[in-house]
Amino acid sequence: MVDMDKIVSLSKRRGFIFQSSEIYGGLGSAWDYGPLGVELKNNVKRLWWRDNVLLRDDMVGLDAAITMHPRVWEASGHLASFSDPFTGCLDCGRHYRADHVEEARKNSKWWQSLKELNDWPDVKKWVQSDKGGKKLAPNLPLVKNPDQIFQKMRGFGPNLTSVAGPDAHALPELQGLTDAMLLNIVADGSSVCPNCGGKLSDPKPASLMLKVGLGPVDETATQTYLRPETAQGIFVNFDNVLQASRKKLPFGIAQIGKAFRNEITPGNFTFRTREFEQMEIEFFVLPGTDEEWHQKWIDERFAWYPRYGIRKENIRLREHEKDELAHYAKRTADIEYLFPMGWSELEGIANRTDFDLKQHSEFSGKALEYFDEESKQKIVPYVIEPSAGADRSTLAFLVDAYHEEEVRGEKRVVLKFHPELAPIKIAVLPLLKKNDRIVETAKKLTADLRKRWYTVYDDTASIGRLYRRQDEVGTPFCITVDVQTVGDEKAPADEKVTIRDRNTMEQVRVSLPALEPVMEKLMAGKWVDVAQEHGIKKE
Ligand code: GAP
Repeated sequence: MVDMDKIVSLSKRRGFIFQSSEIYGGLGSAWDYGPLGVELKNNVKRLWWRDNVLLRDDMVGLDAAITMHPRVWEASGHLASFSDPFTGCLDCGRHYRADHVEEARKNSKWWQSLKELNDWPDVKKWVQSDKGGKKLAPNLPLVKNPDQIFQKMRGFGPNLTSVAGPDAHALPELQGLTDAMLLNIVADGSSVCPNCGGKLSDPKPASLMLKVGLGPVDETATQTYLRPETAQGIFVNFDNVLQASRKKLPFGIAQIGKAFRNEITPGNFTFRTREFEQMEIEFFVLPGTDEEWHQKWIDERFAWYPRYGIRKENIRLREHEKDELAHYAKRTADIEYLFPMGWSELEGIANRTDFDLKQHSEFSGKALEYFDEESKQKIVPYVIEPSAGADRSTLAFLVDAYHEEEVRGEKRVVLKFHPELAPIKIAVLPLLKKNDRIVETAKKLTADLRKRWYTVYDDTASIGRLYRRQDEVGTPFCITVDVQTVGDEKAPADEKVTIRDRNTMEQVRVSLPALEPVMEKLMAGKWVDVAQEHGIKKE
């Protein structure tokens, strides 16, 4: 698996994703999509919309406002319970999500360097060394008060029971201690900061809602919140959409839009940010059919990612435990992706029951119901909610596409995007940039192809370098125009161009009039068929 630093650096170098406000030192919780990133993310959103809205007759779309009436957030339960457990370091002031501290400590430099030591004398040296404890974890109890901690250990002799827990009798050697025992000793029994080893405050809930004042005068501005999920815009419009579209149950409303959360610890590139985009569906069903529809949506959404290139071994389903279910959910399954930092949520698919429609009916005084022709009764539908992140999906497609290969003794970095996701679909490359006929033909070809596929023209380097450049941004096909295409004094034009496939680096020669239908086949993933028809040459 590629590490995240490589993805971050490629993203910046090739114009996928930049740090927000970088010239001012950057804002850690926000990222900007560059020329290729915006194409990639737009393709993710377009495919999601096409597959979930345009290709289904039980779905319609919506684009609701980001700012909503403040009562929405009372009714939805977000004001009362949308929070994460917060803890802060009493020494260095860093903030953490309490449930992320363990993971961050395990990955911290001080813990990892401590774990490499062989015996207690080494630990003593580490504590005093300017490169060891003093630098990496200056506020760790072991570093602050080594004598006290070693004294305590000596007091208990080789049996570390009191400082290391009841399992420690036979494990006095440093190497024999479990991680929990070692941590207990060096942290003197407290929970410590992954950054400096300092003491952490007791966890308390911190709201994730981002406040905003609407209006020019602070004192009279309407206090509301930037939406933390797009879902509520759908629930409050349930009756509007029902009346306007005359849909019958089961049917869904889909929406793509920005959401905002005051995350305690944004991080891992675009994985967790304070501003992000969601792709959400609220699918309304008859009560009693909800469990069956929930499973259908779990299966449908789980199959969607591999359709566009995510390797099956890199995604999995994870069922929520009862105690982690959101306040509105009866059952939730997450689709997780194996990101560079480990398995993490890509999409959640929840059975939200009739919670939201009932809450909004109660708080607004407007009934949000459906008249069921069969039973001749008004009912409140149940809701199945597949909720995906556009930024997380884009990141997953980027990570999964990343490959490093060796070609003729050199490293080739290649993004093996599905053609529908690739930011640039075709690059037209003239073999000789000083030959006017070649350049003119290549530019005309670019303009023609661009009408159907995003096509670029590039003549700024040798052909080998141009190929590598396109590989690194995931362009599935390069087309070269050469002397044979346009002819010269020795031979007439053959009016053919060479198409090169990114993944195999194989090439085929195709006549200009046949180019468009051939490209159509290639975009549908039929390289093997085209290669058989036209004969392969190697790069
Ligand atoms: N309406 C349900 C809901 O919002 P969620 O699991 O909190 O559920 C759904 O969010 C999806 O939104 C997540 O699976 C993730 O892809 C994305 N998401 C949530 N918080 C995010 C954040 N801070 N940064 C980026 N994406 C986020």
